[in-house]
Amino acid sequence: MNRRTIVVANWKMNGNLNLVEEMSKRLNQVQLDESVDVIVCPSFPYLATMATKLTHKNVYLGAQNMNAQTKGAFTGEISTTMLQEFAVKYVILGHSERRSIYQETSVEIAQKVSAALNSGITPILCIGESADQRTAEQTETILAAQLQPVIDEIGIEKFNEVVIAYEPVWAIGTGKTASPEMAQATHQYIRQFLSANNTEIADKVPLLYGGSVNAQNCEALFAQPDIDGGLLGGASLKVDEFSQICSTVKGS
Ligand code: 13P
Repeated sequence: MNRRTIVVANWKMNGNLNLVEEMSKRLNQVQLDESVDVIVCPSFPYLATMATKLTHKNVYLGAQNMNAQTKGAFTGEISTTMLQEFAVKYVILGHSERRSIYQETSVEIAQKVSAALNSGITPILCIGESADQRTAEQTETILAAQLQPVIDEIGIEKFNEVVIAYEPVWAIGTGKTASPEMAQATHQYIRQFLSANNTEIADKVPLLYGGSVNAQNCEALFAQPDIDGGLLGGASLKVDEFSQICSTVKGS
């Protein structure tokens, strides 16, 4: 199965108008392999400006979070309807920072995934285990427990429109990336888990790896058969490095 390769920039709570300007200018000129898509996810205040600047046909705008409700008395929250007004095509959901710092549960994340799909925004569903969980050999149990509520909420067929990002928590922002072999083995498990529900869908879902991906390690990681691109934090804030990663990545 030929899946598209996807490179996602998660700026987290970083960046400024200058970075919006510099990154969009560079990405508008980047040479991408024809099966590669790039998604840039700045903080909410920058979405509107970025939306007016991005012109490359394979570079899309994404958000870092959203509320599952479409409107109402939810001070400080953002709805899918608002995101749609700024040409947002993707949304990162269930990032480990949202799960650990803001106590988002897998059930709440599943409801957000459903709301995103209902409004035509593609969810980038993040899953991943902590260092302690990996040491205790609980990785597969944890990933299954994070995926199952989403399957229960939206049904396996809807995974046709979902991107999954596997981000081991111990690799995020630590410089300790999973080896290509370790990441591949986990991605293979995720695909098998989905496959137990629907083989055809499992084969189609793009599975991204995230956690200390950079220009040096991206090629070996993305060359693995079940790794279809990456979700990048730190490296996505560096215009030279990020654009280099995007242009060197080959589609599958
Ligand atoms: P780093 O690339 O900085 O490790 O962050 C990964 C991440 O959390 C992307 O969502």
